[in-house]
Amino acid sequence: MSDKATLEIKGQKHEFPLIVGSEDEVAIDIKTLRGVTGGVTTIDPGFKNTGSCESGITFLDGEKGILRYRGYSIEDLAEKADFLEVAYLLIFGELPTKEQLDKFHADIKEKSVVDEDIKKIIESFPKAAHPMGVISSLTSALTSFNPSSVDVSSDEAMYNAIVKILGKFPVLVAWTMRRRMGLPLDYGDDSLGYVENILKMMFKRPDKEYVQNRVLVDALDKLLILHADHEQNCSTSTVRIVGSSHAGLFASLSAGISALWGPLHGGANQAVLEMLEAIKEDGGDTKKYMAKAKDKEDPFRLMGFGHRVYKNFDPRAKIIKVAADEVLADLGIEDPILDIAKGLEQEALNDEYFVKRKLYPNVDFYSGIIYRGMGIPVEMFTVMFALGRLPGWIAQWKEMRLRKEPIGRPRQVYTGENFREFKSINKR
Ligand code: ACO
Repeated sequence: MSDKATLEIKGQKHEFPLIVGSEDEVAIDIKTLRGVTGGVTTIDPGFKNTGSCESGITFLDGEKGILRYRGYSIEDLAEKADFLEVAYLLIFGELPTKEQLDKFHADIKEKSVVDEDIKKIIESFPKAAHPMGVISSLTSALTSFNPSSVDVSSDEAMYNAIVKILGKFPVLVAWTMRRRMGLPLDYGDDSLGYVENILKMMFKRPDKEYVQNRVLVDALDKLLILHADHEQNCSTSTVRIVGSSHAGLFASLSAGISALWGPLHGGANQAVLEMLEAIKEDGGDTKKYMAKAKDKEDPFRLMGFGHRVYKNFDPRAKIIKVAADEVLADLGIEDPILDIAKGLEQEALNDEYFVKRKLYPNVDFYSGIIYRGMGIPVEMFTVMFALGRLPGWIAQWKEMRLRKEPIGRPRQVYTGENFREFKSINKR
């Protein structure tokens, strides 16, 4: 293969170097395009063909259904690692030694106290406010409570900002849920593991001792690992592009949370459960909803199906489907929604419309069923996704800043009016 791509524009040939990634992915490097062509640009709505950066964090192959963090397969990590180890791996590039992990956890715990005044902000939101709006605002508010911006040239300053957000974010998540449920806003328990502490902070009742359930801890650990990074998706690209203006870490994360909220992205887990509920309420007729999903006149889409990158299967969905079965069986829950989900999946896998378009269940098709089994309210599902994605966003933000990437500023092709004379108001 030639190591150059040739582009001919108006009879003039231009050569561009090819960049080959570590998994032999080939990209045409068009950094010089506008310069050498006198201003010609490219257009690619939704960036379906555009690489925004080189990255050493996550590899995914949508055709083969491969997902790896820093070279380790998602299957191995979900089975053998815990969430904090995976967070460390994503952010610092290597699996931690026991000492590194213990220190990391101790530092996170040390920074996990949230300013009491944040409670006043939470209390000023209507109780029914969507938790994604609340958590995005609270993450942004952290900037005001921790005003010094991160000095990215200092490993220590970077490390401190990272442990701070990993410590405080679960508290904000728990408080967001507890406020909705009318429970007191408590702090965590220093003696617990990271994920155990999250569950206790979320569910501890003021009148009862909280009893840990190993099945729930393991299931949440797995869910958080599976959501921890997914290369340049909508929210991660948002974090990188906001951070590229040298906005601080917390502000960039807050923007990422807003991007995640949409039903075409992280909001799909809530949308899936609402869809499955609606099908159940409507008599469980999955065929009717399959027909709606295929009808181009009908805006309905089968939520939890399809993915921009996976065109074979989503490896995370495979793991989650098994976990959903295990968790519900362990908790002794028989959820008719799980049967509807499995029925829909079977129909879609054998339906020409879905097969032709390579639409398979994605990570969020089954995650909501597990969250529901755990007792997490449906509006909190996307917040749980954000909790899992946090280390990925941090890793991507850190990589972007350390690689000194330029400010993100796409081009456009203008299709509006040409120059017009201004008309005074009485002549319009
Ligand atoms: N139900 C029915 N039809 C679908 C679905 C679906 N869920 N997803 C895609 N299609 C169809 C489209 O109508 C389109 O059909 P056409 O070629 O006849 O016009 C074709 O499949 C391609 O779809 P696009 O929207 O062009 O694919 P894109 O890559 O832009 O979108 C997306 C991917 C947003 C995930 C889409 O599949 C979707 O909306 N899925 C439902 C929402 C969802 O589950 N989102 C979660 C994604 S995973 C995550 O963010 C963690």
